[in-house]
Amino acid sequence: MTINSSKKFSPFFLPFSAFCFCSFFFTWLLVSGGCCLGAAVGAADDGDSVLARKTAEKDIWKPTFSSLIQSSKPLKVTFSGPAKNWTDAIPIGNGRLGAMVWGGIASETLQLNEDTLWTGVPGDYTDPDAPAALSEVRKLVDNRDYAKATKAAVKLSGNPSDVYQPLGDIKLEFDDSHNNYTEGTYRRELDLDTATATVKYSVGDVEFTREHFVSNPDQVIVTKISGSKPGSLSFTVSLDSKLQHDSKANKQNQIMMLGSCPGKRMAPRGSEENPKGIQFTAVLSLQVSQGGVVHILDDKKLKVEGSDWAILFLVASSSFDGPFTMPSASTKDPTSESLETLKSIEKLSYSDLYARHLDDYQNLFHRVSLQLSKSSKSNLKDGSREKSEAAVSTAERVKSFQTDEDPSFVELLFQYGRYLLISSSRPGTQVSDLQGIWSEKLEPAWDCAPHLNINLQMNYWPSLSCNLKECQEPLFDYMSSLSINGKKTAKVNYEASGWVAHQVSDIWAKTSPDRGEAVWALWPMGGAWLCTHLWEHFTYTMDKDFLQNKAYPLLEGCASFLLDWLIEGPGGYLQTNPSTSPEHMFVAPDGQPASVSYSSTMDMEIIREVFSEIVAAAEILGRKDDALIAKVRQAQPKLLPTRIAKDGSIMEWAEDFKDPDIHHRHLSHLFGLFPGHTITVEKNPDLAKAVNYTLYKRGEDGPGWSTTWKIALWAHLHNGEHAYRMVKHLVNLVDPNREGDFEGGLYSNLFTAHPPFQIDANFGFSAAVAEMLVQSTMNDLYLLPALPQQWANGCVKGLKARGGVTVNMCWQDGDLEQVGLWSKDQSIVKRLHYRGTIVSAKIASGKVYTFNRLLKCVNIYNL
Ligand SMILES: *[C@@H]1O[C@H](CO)[C@@H](O)[C@H](O)[C@H]1NC(C)=O
Ligand SMILES: *[C@@H]1O[C@H](CO)[C@@H](O)[C@H](O)[C@H]1NC(C)=O
Ligand SMILES: *[C@@H]1O[C@H](CO)[C@@H](O)[C@H](O)[C@H]1NC(C)=O
Repeated sequence: MTINSSKKFSPFFLPFSAFCFCSFFFTWLLVSGGCCLGAAVGAADDGDSVLARKTAEKDIWKPTFSSLIQSSKPLKVTFSGPAKNWTDAIPIGNGRLGAMVWGGIASETLQLNEDTLWTGVPGDYTDPDAPAALSEVRKLVDNRDYAKATKAAVKLSGNPSDVYQPLGDIKLEFDDSHNNYTEGTYRRELDLDTATATVKYSVGDVEFTREHFVSNPDQVIVTKISGSKPGSLSFTVSLDSKLQHDSKANKQNQIMMLGSCPGKRMAPRGSEENPKGIQFTAVLSLQVSQGGVVHILDDKKLKVEGSDWAILFLVASSSFDGPFTMPSASTKDPTSESLETLKSIEKLSYSDLYARHLDDYQNLFHRVSLQLSKSSKSNLKDGSREKSEAAVSTAERVKSFQTDEDPSFVELLFQYGRYLLISSSRPGTQVSDLQGIWSEKLEPAWDCAPHLNINLQMNYWPSLSCNLKECQEPLFDYMSSLSINGKKTAKVNYEASGWVAHQVSDIWAKTSPDRGEAVWALWPMGGAWLCTHLWEHFTYTMDKDFLQNKAYPLLEGCASFLLDWLIEGPGGYLQTNPSTSPEHMFVAPDGQPASVSYSSTMDMEIIREVFSEIVAAAEILGRKDDALIAKVRQAQPKLLPTRIAKDGSIMEWAEDFKDPDIHHRHLSHLFGLFPGHTITVEKNPDLAKAVNYTLYKRGEDGPGWSTTWKIALWAHLHNGEHAYRMVKHLVNLVDPNREGDFEGGLYSNLFTAHPPFQIDANFGFSAAVAEMLVQSTMNDLYLLPALPQQWANGCVKGLKARGGVTVNMCWQDGDLEQVGLWSKDQSIVKRLHYRGTIVSAKIASGKVYTFNRLLKCVNIYNL
């Protein structure tokens, strides 16, 4: 059956017994246009619910042998106690609304975010003084006076971005008896399979349970609190915020909080005038069981007494009406919007809401499964420990990974990245920022802004390979906004056509350079790097409408900027000037530190990539005779090629400068190997060898995102063992109170550390693991290109490859056992590569093909 046919199978429900949702038993019906592939019908538990669902994508391929893989551990992040620090709390979210669940006992906090709460108003991202500064800098670069050019380039810097703001907190206060909970009964966990956070503990003979989820279809944060004995539940709930706000409780058992974000960021931008900022409203609505009593306390709190259970619904919205509307001119009323959302769920029971949440979430999450285990010998050894492991917290698993190298932990961290992407970026939401959507501070690290010189891109690396293409939609909406502001920046600052975006942006689609030193601020390639995601999206989905209507116009604007930005230099080469390699200084020939020169390797590799992509896109869309394409084709051979330095590494800058920081965290000059495509082991082995040496020279330390980039790079050198070393490097428990002692690592909630917390490496990890298992071009499919010996046995199902193919695979004792391929919409021919065997395989749409380790087709059936 096709995936689209899911629409025919909207869930139906038999009546639920009130609020009993905890033991759903789904009935799975496999139906396909009259052709029944097989049916599994299970009895409904207690007759509570029967739900018909399509086959999860991860379950479509059935290998014809039985795998040795042991059943995996549940996909749960577990904790031994309440959170002590923010990075111990559980993140939940629906793309727009997020909460961090601390799991306190007598006193609980759900720290809240809404992804449109930012400081500021739309800005002017142009600088009429830039052209004069630009020609000054260009002359200095031409004279090889790089240190002076670096100083002069500060004149090209702009203002800081705006700042992401936290919505507030739901506070729950239970009476002191809860501090008397029975030792050993406390449980707190996040179940990735259901995107639900649960806290449980017993006080005397009463078990208290709290369940939390954030629904995307119903746009609400739901908390259910229950006591196992009738009337045992009493607590007080309130809403608070660090932002300017006012909250009031009313007789409809609601708390309404109205507030506003600063119209101007705090330091270092000053606050002479303070325009009206983004306004927001959050409404908490409370339901209690029969017999439960609700009072209003101090006008702003609700006090519940003697209830069996209580349900909290938290809705929120803001006046943000796109990046071009002043908050003072916004016609969006966040209060009426919030109340409408509440009204729209009025008739839905908790069970309905939960079922709708599961249906939505699992449609995405259940597309991919990963199982990994060690060789059968070491498995026997592990088996004996299986029992005690049930109670082991995830933080303990992180700590013991250096010795036990538990492959099921890799599964968990891989799926956690997918979970976080589903929870922080959905169609219609803002892009996932430096912390996804989760941030508690008014002044978060680096303003929590999207950073375009690796971080924002890495956030979306797993979206295609890990089968979550919908989650990348906000990025394309964002790029459309950037292209509007970026056209003005290009025109005024650089007297260029097309659009440009620099390194740091914000919700207002800021496109001008950041404030400060050229080494990070002056980097006009942010938009161009993002543009490579457009072509990637097409190569994975083969969606021509997307290519024509969304991708091509943005690529055109990007390519015309690049054509204008490039200037003819000596030797007939086209140069970028000024040019930096993100955040990395060099030693200029006169011995001075500098960052600005010309034609950094990354500039050239990104431009080469964008140019070849727009040429390929024009070919597909029948536009290869466009004037722009002719210009691009003329420019292509004049781009400075990637060069190898005297020491055998990839040259990072225009000249073979001395590098004062050989372990620098960025790997910008290796862009061509990954995520770019201009360097491959097969195509240009000399460059691949130089990348190999560059990686050795760079060393292994670095922030989380640097570590995961290295995993992907080693994977593309087909070096599974080194990729694995970097996996191991990441799995290191960070103490939030001694962050300074760490580089990279994981917090107890599995958030990745720069440090501080930065979410890019969570996404980078999932993407990089996928690259270790499957790599592809439009024509080629590389199976297990970088499998480390530690993952001797495994199955991965539902990964996506270029050309619209879904890849499923099992391997045993380090050797491919079977691979299952299918393509939904188009028939394609793929060259399959597995350890020297290359076979051309025709994949007709709508059929599932199974190949053995010799890449011989052994089975075909209909999708
Ligand atoms: C972590 O929590 C402890 C205890 O509340 C506190 O003293 C400490 O400052 C927190 N650390 C961070 C980094 O927030
Ligand atoms: C905690 O439990 C102890 C022993 O059962 C009891 O004496 C004490 O009063 C309880 N404290 C509270 C605050 O309930
Ligand atoms: C990569 O570099 C290391 C260290 O210089 C060397 O031992 C190894 O053979 C190189 N591998 C390739 C494929 O060039």
